[in-house]
Amino acid sequence: MGAVRLGAHVWEGLMSAETQAKLLPGKPVADAVLADVAQRVAKLKEGGVQPSLATILVGDDDASAGYIRIKQRQAGELGFVSPHEHLPSDATQDDLHRVIDRLNADKSVHALLIQYPPPAHIDYDAALMSVDPDKDVDGMHPLNLGRLSVGLPGARPCTPAGIEALLAHYEIPVAGHEVVILGRGATIGRPLAMMLSQKRPTANAAVTVVHTGVPDWERYTKRADILIAAVGVPGIIQPEHVRPGATVIGAGVRYEGRRLLPDVAEEVAGVAGALTPRVGGVGPTTVAMLFRNAVEAAEKASR
Ligand SMILES: NC(=O)c1ccc[n+]([C@@H]2O[C@H](COP(=O)([O-])OP(=O)(O)OC[C@H]3O[C@@H](n4cnc5c(N)ncnc54)[C@H](OP(=O)(O)O)[C@@H]3O)[C@@H](O)[C@H]2O)c1
Repeated sequence: MGAVRLGAHVWEGLMSAETQAKLLPGKPVADAVLADVAQRVAKLKEGGVQPSLATILVGDDDASAGYIRIKQRQAGELGFVSPHEHLPSDATQDDLHRVIDRLNADKSVHALLIQYPPPAHIDYDAALMSVDPDKDVDGMHPLNLGRLSVGLPGARPCTPAGIEALLAHYEIPVAGHEVVILGRGATIGRPLAMMLSQKRPTANAAVTVVHTGVPDWERYTKRADILIAAVGVPGIIQPEHVRPGATVIGAGVRYEGRRLLPDVAEEVAGVAGALTPRVGGVGPTTVAMLFRNAVEAAEKASR
């Protein structure tokens, strides 16, 4: 990941009057990742391969339809073709699996995205499990999580991969430092702990994971060089849980309607040395990693 140094004037612009922490927005990181993806897509096309990211939407949820439209537009801008399957809200699990099976078998489709959440009667995990692991853009297929755990190449979970990229982009020292992750969920905490403890230049950290089984978790978060909140309990991270000068990454959120409630209280900005913004932190990097997984799937299929 090419790390880009932000000039002092840029940092000033990113700091609000009462904020002391440097803000770590995800967009510049995502832009760098997506520029690389676009180049790789172009190279594949020059070699006669048209990268393809298929999308599946079940039901008529407006927000989900909107997210799919945004991803399709972005896919188009990056040079992917993006065949779309829209199943009605009363589609059965079998209907969904038939579509997944067809896209799995289609050699012109390199990557496959099922928009989350599907309607309540659909078992998303079962659907994800039936996606060809080599077309899994989320990096959440159990085979890919297994590949991650033993250090084999494969799609990486998007939010954790985006957090590693964000830390690298802003040149936050990770190797040899203490990272504490609050939350051991399958989407963020658990895979991120694996990633940041691996022997790679942008990882190689001393990683501790805390959760509800560690009632005095603040004992650990208070000593962290890098604290990552991956919980989904609004405001769970307060200033007194943070070592002064530490880097704080807020990944967990809860939505109340359209209102986004982050894990990290705003007052943490007065203690942390660097902090992801309330909005626009790990969201953009998560989406960028989805496209990185998609181009890697196309490269792998074309070898
Ligand atoms: N920004 C993004 O792009 C993005 C992407 C994906 C997910 N998310 C958000 O990230 C969060 C985590 O998702 P996930 O799927 O990885 O995790 P998850 O399955 O929702 O698990 C949450 C974790 O937080 C822990 N936890 C809950 N309440 C706690 C408390 N009071 N004290 C200490 N630990 C507590 C839980 O502990 P136990 O294991 O002990 O129950 C669990 O390990 C969610 O808010 C999700 O919406 C954000």
